[in-house]
Amino acid sequence: MEKIENQIKSLKQELATALAAAKNEQALEAVRVDFLGRQGHIAKLMESLKTASLEEKRVLGPLLNELKQQITQLYTEKKEALISQILQQQLFKKQYFDVSASLANQTPAHLHIYTQLIQELENIFISMGYKIADGPEVETEFYNFEALNIPKDHPARDMQDTFWLTLPNMLLRTHTSNVQVREMEKQEPPLAIFATGRTYRHEAIDAKHDILFSQGEVLMVDENISMANLLATAKTFLQAIFDKKDIKMRVRTGYFPFVEPAVEIDASCPFCTNGCSVCKKTTWIELLGAGLVHPNVLKCGGINTEKYSGFALGFGLERIAMIRYGINDIRLFHSSKIPFLDQF
Ligand code: PHE
Repeated sequence: MEKIENQIKSLKQELATALAAAKNEQALEAVRVDFLGRQGHIAKLMESLKTASLEEKRVLGPLLNELKQQITQLYTEKKEALISQILQQQLFKKQYFDVSASLANQTPAHLHIYTQLIQELENIFISMGYKIADGPEVETEFYNFEALNIPKDHPARDMQDTFWLTLPNMLLRTHTSNVQVREMEKQEPPLAIFATGRTYRHEAIDAKHDILFSQGEVLMVDENISMANLLATAKTFLQAIFDKKDIKMRVRTGYFPFVEPAVEIDASCPFCTNGCSVCKKTTWIELLGAGLVHPNVLKCGGINTEKYSGFALGFGLERIAMIRYGINDIRLFHSSKIPFLDQF
């Protein structure tokens, strides 16, 4: 009998230690099974009572019952304490969740160099009152050539090696000038539009040429538009894109069937005054094709050539970027090379 009494005492002690050590729900459940389960300590003591004498049962019975109650109570208290502790921890996590904390090893993304450049160009022209326009890359022969005073079999078509589609009279546009007549058809003058986009030419690929490249196109049609408007616009644009006030321009005669007179405009090298690798020691950089819109083109766009005149100006986006950033290979633009793209 004494043995059982001692066991009861030590059991309480053991339970206190086990409960204190149980730090989560699984551990607590293990303690419950150990003490209160069907094969647990209490059950075993009850079992051993069966063989005890009547007198012993009278003393030990209530003792054991009391123990069972105490153990159950201690277990319940501990369980409640543990649950409220877990809830508190969850609440704390939510409350103090730091939304500004950054994840380790993240490569920050940024806009592609094309997108950055296009946004910059658009801002320059929007600040001059231009409207942004857009034209299709899959284009008809009409808007890419005929409407631009380049009829079938005209030798000027050779200047722009064309990707013809298997669909009749369809091609991948060779320049962004296809937006010119499309825009003239859409609205009455005054017209001031700026468009950028992809253009395609069937050329041999090297560091200077790619079959896919991008252009910017400027078109203005209004009363009394002259070469002076063209040159002033070109200068404002060049000063803004190279962030240089004292950019000089050199105008040479050029040939584009859709403008007359046609010119090519060179800018003074933004990086030197006496020759460097960017301008190949010439101090000039070829940048723009331009001219006054040919009356045949205006007529195609349904514009009264007695009343209105216009200028058009075009340039390669990659060329601007290559000069600005000293990029020496046009193929890099579509290479998806992260070390290249990360620089911008
Ligand atoms: N479309 C011409 C080209 O791709 C450039 C240009 C545009 C020239 C507008 C004159 C006027 O070469």
